[in-house]
Amino acid sequence: MLLYTATLKDGRVVLIREFRMEDKEKLFQMYESLSAEAVRWGMPPYTRDRIEKWWLSNLQNLIPIVALHGDRIVGHAQIFTPAHARRKGTADSAMYLHQDFHNVGLGAAMLPKLLELARREGLHRVGLTVVAENARAVRLYEKFGFKVEGVLKDAYFGEDGKYHDELAMALILE
Ligand SMILES: CC(C)(COP(=O)(O)OP(=O)(O)OC[C@H]1O[C@@H](n2cnc3c(N)ncnc32)[C@H](O)[C@@H]1OP(=O)(O)O)[C@@H](O)C(=O)NCCC(=O)NCCS
Repeated sequence: MLLYTATLKDGRVVLIREFRMEDKEKLFQMYESLSAEAVRWGMPPYTRDRIEKWWLSNLQNLIPIVALHGDRIVGHAQIFTPAHARRKGTADSAMYLHQDFHNVGLGAAMLPKLLELARREGLHRVGLTVVAENARAVRLYEKFGFKVEGVLKDAYFGEDGKYHDELAMALILE
């Protein structure tokens, strides 16, 4: 059971733990209150319906963690493990933090905890794609050992009406 307290760069303290189904409403509330900037390089809208469909109905293939500040979920990160035998040990990951908690080290506190769970599950590879201009996310992933494996040219159609490159990144866990 993961239970970890982190002190952020601005002194706030958050609790990081595995997601539980009873957190559902708080998770919806975090996603519903994300600013346009926070989802600028994501795949909005993050409505209740889509969260239910994409994630909560697929929990058997997910390793989700949350960060709580008081009673509020302020961060959510997860690993998706495909069920197919030919994808054994491989996974994709994603992380979203509430904008009130950007750039104060919450991502850096959550990512190693997520990777710890990935290792515990015996996973071999954790991959992700990130819009190349999402420099903060790229920096965070690189800091924890993810390597850029390639560029997906014009793979992301931005809210600015333009195509943007994505980077394929991954970490081999051994
Ligand atoms: C991307 C995200 C998860 C990063 O988490 P975070 O808590 O904000 O990041 P941290 O504060 O832990 O670390 C960010 C690092 O990037 C650096 N950084 C910040 N802005 C940067 C920029 N414009 N260019 C390069 N580096 C930058 C910071 O200095 C820090 O590095 P350091 O600790 O070595 O100083 C978070 O900002 C977020 O949820 N963003 C919106 C959703 C999103 O884009 N998710 C990723 C989708 S793949």
